[in-house]
Order: sequence, then structure tokens, then C-alpha cells
Amino acid sequence: MEKFRIEGGRRLEGMVRVSGAKNAALPAMAAALLTPEPVRLRNVPRVRDIVTMGRLLAHMEAHVETSPAEPEYVTIRAEKISNAEAPYELVKTMRASVLTLGPLVARTGYARVSLPGGCAIGARPIDLHLKALEKMGAAISTEHGYVEARAPEGGLRGAELRFEKITVTGTENAMMAAALASGETVIENAAREPEIADLARLLITMGAKVEGAGTATLRICGAAELHGATHTVIPDRIEAGTLLVAGAITGGELLLTQCEPAHLTAVTEKLAQAGVVIRAEGGNALRVHNGGPLTAVDVTTEEYPGFATDMQAQYMALMTQAEGASVITETIFENRFLHAQEMVRMGAHISIEGRRAVVRGPVRLTGASVQASDLRASASLVLAALVAEGETVIDRVYHLDRGYERLEEKLGAVGAKIERIK
Ligand code: EPZ
Repeated sequence: MEKFRIEGGRRLEGMVRVSGAKNAALPAMAAALLTPEPVRLRNVPRVRDIVTMGRLLAHMEAHVETSPAEPEYVTIRAEKISNAEAPYELVKTMRASVLTLGPLVARTGYARVSLPGGCAIGARPIDLHLKALEKMGAAISTEHGYVEARAPEGGLRGAELRFEKITVTGTENAMMAAALASGETVIENAAREPEIADLARLLITMGAKVEGAGTATLRICGAAELHGATHTVIPDRIEAGTLLVAGAITGGELLLTQCEPAHLTAVTEKLAQAGVVIRAEGGNALRVHNGGPLTAVDVTTEEYPGFATDMQAQYMALMTQAEGASVITETIFENRFLHAQEMVRMGAHISIEGRRAVVRGPVRLTGASVQASDLRASASLVLAALVAEGETVIDRVYHLDRGYERLEEKLGAVGAKIERIK
């Protein structure tokens, strides 16, 4: 298994380009199942989950093309779908495989998708995805660990949906199903994440009518057929947030290019309260530097536009260096503090009670051997290691590779001493 070896204590300085958003590229790839025509996606990050989604679509006999000459492009052509199945072997490595459920049942009238099962950060059921499809007329059954969904004669029908709880991929599945359903679908209590708006843009280009993206009520008018499209994926706000913390925690100065500052407001506001100086430079660049001693500031994770759960672990790493006690409350997932124990092994003072973590700082972190437990936890350990004294070895970086594009190269280019070892 590959590991990262990081020698801490170096100030990061320079320019880093932010990649495309994994969590926008994944639903965009799934949406390509809705049409026999090619869907060309630009700004797709070269990360493991994208490779897994490509394999999944290929399993369904879609053509997935990437070219070394244009590494950020992926073209998908699902001319015919002869195998409307997402097998356990792929779903177990990537829960987002469930994003194929809505498009498959809408396009072919049938889908068989393995249930994802538990995950390191929480139970993460998909009951809300299934209820939405049922309301659109699909018959759902679960057997042998697989969900089978069948559209009624004449295909899925538009429906009035109301999610009991906000769900990002649940909203995306319902949107994609609605794009090929007959009539209008209204989704209440929809997720408002920028990735939802990005998917709406793509579906509109493909010929669906979508209104209200970015608000809690979405209205989608399905089309009998959707056509191909070319679409540029939005920048990755979580990678950008992680890099902002990297600049701040090392007392450095980084210029992040090709990001979308408007998607990062909750994070930049929190960091500013903590004493980090962040300046917008032009339309899509952010400059970060540490304006002196950091102050502890509480944070509570929320759905967008609140502070993202996907930034909670990285923020915790920063708070180990801030003066005072910060209370970090995780409201989205029930078990997303696994990184805390690893940070404690590096010298952090963190106590956990249920969904709250109290971080007391500043402490001098010291390098240690630590283990990554999920994607964002891995990133938080890299951040802690960048400021720790001596050498940190992070095991199981395959978690990190699922969602960060060449993180060691990006950090290495701005002064971090980081290497990938076998
Ligand atoms: C998306 O996961 C992201 N993944 C996650 O990114 C992110 O952490 C999460 O949204 C929250 O922002 C992708 O976009 C591919 P949810 P998703 O459904 O859609 C509960 C990363 O690191 N729920 O919004 O699976 C659920 O258990 C990750 O990139 C139900 O109860 O999350 C959770 O408590 C990991 N029933 C809450 O809702 C359902 O049917 C929100 O989850 C669905 C969800």
C-alpha cells in the first residue's frame, strides 16, 4: 500500500491550480447515461473515483474515452446500454456509483444497483433516493444486496417530491430521473450545493428544463429524449479549501488559481475569523497568507451554503494551531471524527463527545506514523504533517487518491517536502 512521507515545518509559497470538482464530475458522468449521444466533459479531475466511474459506465457498455493529450477531458457515449447494472465490486469501492440508478431506470426502464453498505464516516443509507424514484412510478425491490428498480409502462412520471432530509446525491439522482420522465417534477427541500447547480446546467444543455438550481425548490420538465453536450465541470471547492488551510497552517502564502471564490464563502469567512488573510485576486483566484497568531473559532457543519462536512477534518488540523478552545460540531455524518485520534497521536489536544470535538491549541505537533481512514481525513493528516516537527508517514493514501489530484506534486511544487513511498 502506498504511503506519504512528509517532513514538516516548511512554509508553503507559490501558485497552485485548483482541479475540477470530483463531486460535480461524478454526477455529470452518470448523466451521460441519459442520452445515446456523446457527452464531453472538460475540467474532470484525474482522481481514482473518476476512473472507477469510468469503469462502471464501461461495464454498462458505454464508451468512455480519455486521451493523454487532453487529460482533463472525458467523453462518454452511451449509445446503447445493454447491462443496466452497477455491480458490488465497483459500488463497494465508491458509493457515488449509486448515481447511475436514476439515469438507468429513466433511460432503460430498469436498473440493478448494489446497495452501498456502511462507510467509515456513517451509515449513509439510500432510502431517500429510492422513495423519490418510487414516487415517480418505479417499482423498487431489494434482494441479494441489490436494489432493482423498474419504471412503469410508458416510463417514469414527473412527481411532487419532498426530501425529509437534504441529500446531495439523492437530489442528483431525482434530477437525472426527472430529466427523462414525462411531465414536471418538483423537488422540495433539495440540496443547494454548487454541484447541484452544475448538474442542472448540464441537464439544460442536454435538453431538459430545470429551474431553481441553487434554491431548495427545483422544477424539472422532462424531455422525451436528451441529446449530447459539452460541459465544463466547476472547480473543486473542497480541494481549494484544503489548499487554503495548507497555506495558513504553514504560515505561508499561496495563490490559488482557477477556483470559484463564491463557492467558498463559508470556509473563507471562518478562516478569516480565525486570523487567516484571504484576498480575492481577479475573478477566479484567491491569495491566502497567515496574518499572525491564529485564534480558535467554533464551527458547525451544515448543508450548503453552510460550512461543508467535507472541510471539517482539515479545519480541525488548523485549529490545533490556534490559540484557545474551538468546538467543532459535525451534524451531517455520525462518525466523521476518525482523524482526531490520529492527530492526537501527533500531539494534538482533542476530546470528542458524540458529535462534538473540542480542540485546544496551539500545540507543537510532532511527526508520527498515522493512518488515513477516509478521503478528507487523509487530507487533514497531510495538513497536520505539514506543520509537525519531523517526519510523518501517512498510510493508506489510496483514500486521498480517490479525490485529490496529485496532491503530493501540487504541495511539493510550493515547497512541501512530501513523497509517495511504496
Ligand atoms: C455527498 O454525499 C458527497 N458525495 C459527500 O462527499 C459529502 O460529504 C456529502 O454529500 C455531504 O455534503 C458526492 O457528492 C459524491 P448526503 P451523499 O446524501 O450525497 C443521510 C467527499 O469526501 N441520508 O447528502 O452521499 C446521510 O446518511 C464526500 O467527497 C439518508 O439518511 O451525502 C447523511 O447523514 C464523502 N438517506 C445525510 O443524509 C438517504 O437516502 C447527508 O448525506 C441519503 C442520505
